[in-house]
Amino acid sequence: MMERTDRHFRAFLRCLTRGTLLYTEMVHARAVVSGDREKLLGFDPCEHPIALQLGGEDPELLAQAARIAEDWGYDEVNLNVGCPSDRVQSGCFGAALMARPERVAEAVAAMRHAVSVPVTVKHRIGIDDLDRYEDMLRFVDVVSSSDCDRFSVHARKAWLSGLSPKENRNVPPLRYHEVYRLKTERPEQVVEINGGIKTLDEVEDHLQRVDAVMVGRGAYDDPAFLLDADRRCFGLDNPSGDLREALQSYRSYIANHVGGGGRLHDITRHLMGLFAGQPGARRYRRHLGQEAVRPGADLSVLDTAVDFVTI
Ligand SMILES: Cc1cc2nc3c(=O)[nH]c(=O)nc-3n(C[C@H](O)[C@H](O)[C@H](O)COP(=O)(O)O)c2cc1C
Repeated sequence: MMERTDRHFRAFLRCLTRGTLLYTEMVHARAVVSGDREKLLGFDPCEHPIALQLGGEDPELLAQAARIAEDWGYDEVNLNVGCPSDRVQSGCFGAALMARPERVAEAVAAMRHAVSVPVTVKHRIGIDDLDRYEDMLRFVDVVSSSDCDRFSVHARKAWLSGLSPKENRNVPPLRYHEVYRLKTERPEQVVEINGGIKTLDEVEDHLQRVDAVMVGRGAYDDPAFLLDADRRCFGLDNPSGDLREALQSYRSYIANHVGGGGRLHDITRHLMGLFAGQPGARRYRRHLGQEAVRPGADLSVLDTAVDFVTI
């Protein structure tokens, strides 16, 4: 998620869960090929398994970007066919590509040819008037001819004009049953469901019907629900018992960042929602908000903030 799942937040998530696959923010293929790679692609080894999400529509450029991603150590390359923002549409990629399944198939084929890691597609159930179940099925059938490794479906349509990106994440109703139907009718495809999922109970329910679940805002707004994800979803030991323990194991990462000249706020801006609803949470947020932005702010700011929370 843009402005959300940067490397700092992903590294924090790894203190809560090791089994889940993490996604980067979307990066345009052209930026990967021509831009500052350390800034755009750099990640900490603790973040594995990690997928780089690419935006773009030019198969050759996407293939080049995918190759670079694989060389950087990414475990998967995901193509964004779900973002409806104006900026994305003017570049004619993202959700607009749902109307061009053959182009997406060409892009996936080029990427598959370029790398040995999985190549996956994130898409909507439809756009504008192209929003019948049969339209999505056709999209999946065309794209699967290029051996797409997984279809991650945001279970609501997008309106390319008339709704803001934010509205497009909330206003069109969720149509989970169409994603379930896709899995039933195309059992050989790996289908992941996304949209409005916030608890592990919900995750487990969906897993009865599809292969995987993607959680966006739920994981950002209330990462604590992931504390038990490894045990419940992957049969692994959870890395931390509670948020305090998770923050404790995150300390060395934070110390490295701040010690290397980075700002504490780069990290704590992602931690503002922790402890929501607990006594002292407001003082925790206020302290971080005021103190972490100051030059020279270090780990003691976070320690003090956490001390305000009484459990
Ligand atoms: C701030 C923000 C940024 C997002 N950026 C991306 C993105 O870069 N790529 C993408 O595929 N989806 C992006 N999304 C959409 C989410 O991945 C997800 O599909 C959507 O929010 C619905 O799932 P959720 O209800 O679990 O959040 C973004 C969502 C938000 C709130």
